[in-house]
Amino acid sequence: MTEHILVTGAAGFIASHLTEALVVTGHKVRAMIHYNFQNNWGWLETLPQDVMANVEVFPADITDPFAVQKAVSGCDTVYHLAALIAIPYSYRAPAA
Ligand SMILES: NC(=O)c1ccc[n+]([C@@H]2O[C@H](COP(=O)([O-])OP(=O)(O)OC[C@H]3O[C@@H](n4cnc5c(N)ncnc54)[C@H](O)[C@@H]3O)[C@@H](O)[C@H]2O)c1
Repeated sequence: MTEHILVTGAAGFIASHLTEALVVTGHKVRAMIHYNFQNNWGWLETLPQDVMANVEVFPADITDPFAVQKAVSGCDTVYHLAALIAIPYSYRAPAA
């Protein structure tokens, strides 16, 4: 059975590879990316077109509960990999 899966942080290194692996193994993926003004999809832009044909790109901010509610709608599973990985930045902006 095809599972509908939400992957957060999908423009990132780990989550983009996970997204590809999930599509190749027969799943439908909604890929949450952090919107930026250039509409850049990060590492997702390196995935083959036939993979991206099964990916719904969902620009949103993981800290916005309304956006997250929409993102999880209809999904069976969530892989949460969105993260602020820059440790020096987290010292300056711990609330983020
Ligand atoms: N890369 C590694 O070798 C490695 C190893 C072990 C664990 N991890 C963990 O895996 C996770 C992902 O790491 P990564 O290397 O892929 O990082 P990454 O920076 O490539 O990806 C993180 C993604 O999260 C997104 N993001 C950040 N804030 C967001 C927000 N507010 N809303 C929506 N998206 C947001 C970023 O835009 C980015 O695309 C992290 O928790 C990291 O600690 C990574």
